[in-house]
Amino acid sequence: MPVEPAPLTTRPAWLALESQAQILRTTHLRQLFAEDPQRGERMTLEAVGLFLDYSKNRVTDETLKLLVELAEQSQLRARIDAMFRGDKINVTEKRAVLHVALRAPRSARISVDGENVVPEVHAVLDKMTVFAEKIRSGNWLGHTGKPIRNVVNIGIGGSDLGPVMAYEALKFYSDRRLTFRFVSNVDGTDFAEAVIDLDPQETLFIVSSKTFTTLETITNAQSARAWLLARLGGDEQAVARHFVAVSTNATEVAKFGIDTANMFGFWDWVGGRYSMDSAIGLSTMLAIGPEQFRDLLAGFHELDEHFRTAPFARNLPVLLALLSIWNNNFLGAETVAVLPYDQYLKRFPAYLQQLTMESNGKRVQVDGTPVPVATSPIYWGEPGTNGQHSFYQLIHQGTRLIPCDFLAFTESLNPLGRHHDLLLSNVFAQAEALAFGKTAEEVQAEGTPDWLVPHRVFAGNRPSNTILARRLTPAVLGRLVALYEHMVFVQGAIWNIDSFDQWGVELGKVLAQRIIPELEAPREPPLAHDSSTNNLIRRAREGK
Ligand code: F6P
Repeated sequence: MPVEPAPLTTRPAWLALESQAQILRTTHLRQLFAEDPQRGERMTLEAVGLFLDYSKNRVTDETLKLLVELAEQSQLRARIDAMFRGDKINVTEKRAVLHVALRAPRSARISVDGENVVPEVHAVLDKMTVFAEKIRSGNWLGHTGKPIRNVVNIGIGGSDLGPVMAYEALKFYSDRRLTFRFVSNVDGTDFAEAVIDLDPQETLFIVSSKTFTTLETITNAQSARAWLLARLGGDEQAVARHFVAVSTNATEVAKFGIDTANMFGFWDWVGGRYSMDSAIGLSTMLAIGPEQFRDLLAGFHELDEHFRTAPFARNLPVLLALLSIWNNNFLGAETVAVLPYDQYLKRFPAYLQQLTMESNGKRVQVDGTPVPVATSPIYWGEPGTNGQHSFYQLIHQGTRLIPCDFLAFTESLNPLGRHHDLLLSNVFAQAEALAFGKTAEEVQAEGTPDWLVPHRVFAGNRPSNTILARRLTPAVLGRLVALYEHMVFVQGAIWNIDSFDQWGVELGKVLAQRIIPELEAPREPPLAHDSSTNNLIRRAREGK
């Protein structure tokens, strides 16, 4: 295990960054750009086809140097090595964290408890490939002899957000003869609407659940089973032709009635929110085909290698994490807006919410003592340009500091007249407006009446990153996801927290289990909650 770093706020770089922040809190980006005409070209980094412009952050060369020193003083190198080596860095669950093994080439060796896991990874990928080819070619027949045309992924959290995000992101590459639906919410509406127009004879359900015990997923899977059997004459044998499972829990899969021959496995060293490139990505492979799925994995792997080997100052995820720490811990920002200027990435912010906040929404360090500073900022966002006509007002003129990550592609997958130039002009304009704003003098010079001037001033000095790639391909999506995965890792390493557990989701689950029978009982049982919860339960019972 790596040597424990010194307490965070006593690390020399942390202290020096606090002094830096005193100066930079009142320094304007206008000044930083005026002082260095090359800044916009210098403060950029290009690697594995991703171009990051970080010049519109309130940093100087000295800040960046200190941030890199902070990473070093936080033992980041040792932590990266420990992850790639398969050490049990998820300390509260005593598990290795090896999503990087999911995209390692066949020839790689990555061991958990002395056993090389790469051959197992590729065995599952091969099994997925055979299955995907059968479905895509129409050779896998449903119970009544019809080929599969509809695929419904049932899962939640990491077993849903990755698949749905990837499906939407890579729709351009998908087989349009197949229809894909994603059911996650235990609200029956989600399932009912997903299957409303589907023919059960042509429908395949993928029940995706790492544990195969998740209330939402098992409830939806049972409803799917009932829906199918009711429409196919009740023959239980239909289940084997219309249900497959993705899970680490073969016992529960078999109990549900799914043939474990139709189960695609993964391992406890893959966290749910890090699993879209495991068998959890089966729906993605069915949509885009095995070859393009492997391109996606290759993209992930390229970014992994960059992260593992590039010096911190030239390392995309490290830099992104350090800048987020600077904005969050030193400049007081509490959120990060992720703003993809690509309609295909419409679910990317939702995906990132789980990745970032379930990972780093923690208040104690690995040894159980409190983290002395704020941890994960709130990640949120919407695709541009839609966000511009909704919440950007607050980013431009509100009282809060909201750093933004803009994502864009220089080539459109759907070139259509002027659309793409208009789209790109908007993303560049937003970053420019946020950084430089518009002064009272500029507003006055336009002939604005004095009383209106304050309303029309843009203070500027709002930080942003712009990430550009040429084209949204499966490989580029893999690189983007890996970029944020490793960014989260670096943040967690600096805060010295366990980014790979999620105990915070447990309490609500346990309390819900207690309330279920209280809602379902024919006569009101004794209720021993607080007065508010008791009252809400009574009203729900009355309103049934
Ligand atoms: O919300 C908690 C959580 O455990 C997530 O971490 C996970 O992605 C999700 O539930 C789904 O879990 P499973 O894949 O085991 O059904």
